[in-house]
Amino acid sequence: MMYILALESSCDETAVAIIRGCSDTHGVENVEVLANCVASQIDIHKVYGGVVPELASREHTKQLKPLLEMALEQAGVTLQDIDVFAGTAGPGLSSSLLIGHSAAKMLAVASGKTYYAMNHMEGHLLSPFLGKSQSVAVGQAMGLVVSGGHTMLVDIARVGQYHILGQTVDDAAGEAFDKGARMLKLAYPGGPEIEKLAKLGNPQAYDFPRSMLHEKEEGKQHSFSFSGLKTSLYYTLQKEEQKHQREQKAKHQAGESEQEFQLAPAVLNDICASFQQAIIDVLVEKTLAAAVKHKRSVVAISGGVACNKTLITQLQSRLNKRGIELLTADNALNTDNALMIAYAAWQRHQAGQVSDSLEAGIYPRFSGF
Ligand code: KG4
Ligand code: ZN
Repeated sequence: MMYILALESSCDETAVAIIRGCSDTHGVENVEVLANCVASQIDIHKVYGGVVPELASREHTKQLKPLLEMALEQAGVTLQDIDVFAGTAGPGLSSSLLIGHSAAKMLAVASGKTYYAMNHMEGHLLSPFLGKSQSVAVGQAMGLVVSGGHTMLVDIARVGQYHILGQTVDDAAGEAFDKGARMLKLAYPGGPEIEKLAKLGNPQAYDFPRSMLHEKEEGKQHSFSFSGLKTSLYYTLQKEEQKHQREQKAKHQAGESEQEFQLAPAVLNDICASFQQAIIDVLVEKTLAAAVKHKRSVVAISGGVACNKTLITQLQSRLNKRGIELLTADNALNTDNALMIAYAAWQRHQAGQVSDSLEAGIYPRFSGF
């Protein structure tokens, strides 16, 4: 039996989780979640329309200690009971990563216990496997990680053996949602806002680009590109504004009072639905193609964008028709949290990982697993 405490502070969520993992003599694993505490900073950054690094790190510093105490209390354990301290070392914002990562190291040093420098992306990648039966143990799956900072298709041979088939060449899927929402004057984070309005709109109303959908160039078939979508939205909004100006001119000539430009609710809903569908089409088709090509019978989707129910429904339907199972995580596990870091640390431990060097630093940029 082993207790793992994980700290996550790579972006704008401070999080602490404690799990108890055990495996019996037949190798049957059981992971119990003892605490999963997250202090979200969304309200702080919302007013700026995105994460402000300086504010994020200050908030992590403030939140970490009380959150740690809360997690220990919820789990009913003390620091002395913990066997492994795991901290997210990258990728993420440097000033944010430093807080949780240094704290995890210090806790390990002070107690003479094991320390793991964890990869945030591995946390996302493995999260759909948590709590699933042994028949879908980590391995032999196609992973689709769709978050605010990353979009990647990863072939999971087994724990620690990941092959990145393709990533985004520009914006991530979540970033496209966030940037699109900003242009539409919707709140941050944009994904949930666009999804809400998209439910009321027509996904075929506007023809947004599906970049790299049928990419044939060797080495790029599994890559993504979402920046063209943003440009296309910009021109769509410009056209709507020009239409509005023509209408205002006519009103002015007829002696009627003019109004400021604002998208009509029905138009906004249609734009959201069409914009979202363009992202979904690319994610669904590329994931299916990768799973079929690599003969994977399981697809594991993770990251904040996996909270999008329309995406999940369409992906599930397309995969199931080809006999491929879709593994999803709860929404609370899709957005940033420390439970996924603790779970990835448990998987690493089971795969035989020893303590990382205490010299290990942070790595803000993703450069592989
Ligand atoms: O994984 P995550 O919490 O943080 C990163 O590691 O980036 O992902 C956050 C991203 C944001 O871009 C947010 O807009 C997106 O996930 N997101 C969604 C939804 N909920 C969150 N995107 C589409 N639909 C949603 N329902
Ligand atoms: Zn994340």
